[in-house]
Amino acid sequence: MTSSSRIVAVYPGSFDPVTLGHEDVARRTLRVCDHLIVAVAHSSSQPKRHLFPVAERLEMLRAVFAEEPRIECVSFGGLLVDFARRRGARFIVRGLRAVSDFEYEFQMAQMNRELSQEVETVFLAPDVPFSFLSASLVREVASLGGEVRGFVSPVVREHLRRRLA
Ligand code: PNS
Repeated sequence: MTSSSRIVAVYPGSFDPVTLGHEDVARRTLRVCDHLIVAVAHSSSQPKRHLFPVAERLEMLRAVFAEEPRIECVSFGGLLVDFARRRGARFIVRGLRAVSDFEYEFQMAQMNRELSQEVETVFLAPDVPFSFLSASLVREVASLGGEVRGFVSPVVREHLRRRLA
């Protein structure tokens, strides 16, 4: 396969931390691309306080996708569309869980289209058990001593345990 015929996708996010829902969306994306770049943003469109530093979020992503040779985990600064262009990505993938996600996602997709006509945003629905799941809920449950086994991989659960100890 030539490098120009290889379909590259970017799955951007905060991944603070990566949940089973994120993992599901990333693995589904592998059905429609050859190479997936899971990209942790240094700058978010929404003001947020993060639980984990970017380096630790990347460490968790690399651990959960260690068995997926077609998934690369990196961080990026600046505009997502510039990063996608530099990496030759044809599309940006985002998970869409419920109608409540739509407004924020639609705004971002339209803004990204204004910024670059070269890259398309594609939405994938996670599997039903993950349709309610968000990193912010996982952080809240974990910080209040709740069990997050069903929501994150064991390696992420361990990072949460250590950080919130
Ligand atoms: O997981 P999140 O926090 O919903 O992800 C949001 C993210 C990182 C995809 C978005 O904030 C982003 O693309 N940030 C990079 C900066 C950028 O390009 N901003 C303009 C996007 S409309």
